[in-house]
Amino acid sequence: MDKFIIEGGHELSGTVQISGAKNAALPLMAATLLWPGNYKLRRVPALRDTATFAKVLETTGAVVSLQSDVMRIDTRNCDNAEAPYELVKQMRASFYVLGPLLARFGRCKVSMPGGCNWGPRPIDLHLRVMEALGARIELESGYIIATGSLKGADYTFPISSVGATGNGLMAAVLAQGVTVLGNAAIEPEIVGLGDFLNSLGARIAGLGTRTLTITGVDELQAADVTVIPDRIEAGTFLIAGAMAGREVTISGADPSHLGSVIDHLRQAGVTVDIADSAVTVSRPGAIAPVDITTAPYPGYPTDLQAQWMALMTQAAGPSSVHEEVYHDRFAHVPELTRLGARISLKGNVARISAPTALIAAPVMSTDIRASAAIVLAALVAEGSTEISRVYHIDRGYEAIEQKIAQLGGAITRVSDPA
Ligand code: EPZ
Repeated sequence: MDKFIIEGGHELSGTVQISGAKNAALPLMAATLLWPGNYKLRRVPALRDTATFAKVLETTGAVVSLQSDVMRIDTRNCDNAEAPYELVKQMRASFYVLGPLLARFGRCKVSMPGGCNWGPRPIDLHLRVMEALGARIELESGYIIATGSLKGADYTFPISSVGATGNGLMAAVLAQGVTVLGNAAIEPEIVGLGDFLNSLGARIAGLGTRTLTITGVDELQAADVTVIPDRIEAGTFLIAGAMAGREVTISGADPSHLGSVIDHLRQAGVTVDIADSAVTVSRPGAIAPVDITTAPYPGYPTDLQAQWMALMTQAAGPSSVHEEVYHDRFAHVPELTRLGARISLKGNVARISAPTALIAAPVMSTDIRASAAIVLAALVAEGSTEISRVYHIDRGYEAIEQKIAQLGGAITRVSDPA
């Protein structure tokens, strides 16, 4: 397993190119299972998660290749409607194959994803929407077995769920009749998925609103697609610039997806300039403390919660983080504490005392976004910080050490036999 060595105190400046979005690429990859064809996905990030998901698709019989950031997926010979535990346990989003496999084959067997580092990650809403569309769901030795020919139906999600909306959307595309999904997720990644499905011949109305109306069709045809920029990677680098930068620009982003994090950075006294697909942050003076409460899009993203907490350790006063999407998403707190942060946790609320001088110490990655927060903290910590188990960060950030080094950060990757 690799580790990062980061020497704090080096000021960041310059421009970094944002990659395609992991959380957009994964559902797009799943959608190619819906209909036999040759698909080309551009701007696919080279990550552990996209590599894992490619293996899941190959298990079904698809042929997948990635050259630079262009992924080719041939699903003409898919004949195995199964997603095995050894792959699904590595990445929960593998569950995205449920809807397409069920819609195409009328039966599929998908491993339950299991938990992750910050606690249980239920899939009940994915199953409910499939049942609403007429599927029979059985649980057998840790696998979900879904069978049935799908018929249009009305289903309203009790809470906003990105994955369950994506799965329901893909399943409804080939169902007989009309489906109306209420309280649907409106994340840009779901809008991107819907746009792609419509480019294949699906008939989806209401994308970007909480009500999606899908008129089932009998056939689709393959098409190419370009993955939207990664708003979470973009937000991570904006926060890095606020924390350790003189002036940092992200290019190739979509600023319209970054409203909440830009608003919060501006409230914290950070100058944020937007020019087309580039966003520049510069920090004129002290960071003002700003509380966050995470929420589904367009609220403050839970995937940028840990990174904001790292920033707030450097603020001129105390602040709080209310995690309303995953109440237990605080695996980064003990690691930040090892670096000298003073954070108290009560239920789903963290209170950060600040400013605190951070001092290098050996720390460990635990999940993708917690790891990003640790990297940000290490960039301002005094001394040289060793971060182990960086495979977590490789799951969701493409070439992060190259990008940070390009901005002037002192970061090296070393192999860690431990
Ligand atoms: C997606 O996960 C993202 N992953 C997550 O990013 C992100 O944190 C999350 O959306 C919220 O924005 C991908 O897109 C691959 P949800 P997802 O269903 O779809 C509860 C990252 O770091 N829920 O929107 O799994 C759930 O527990 C990852 O890139 C149910 O109760 O999230 C949570 O409280 C981490 N039952 C809330 O809904 C279900 O069946 C929102 O989860 C499904 C979800």
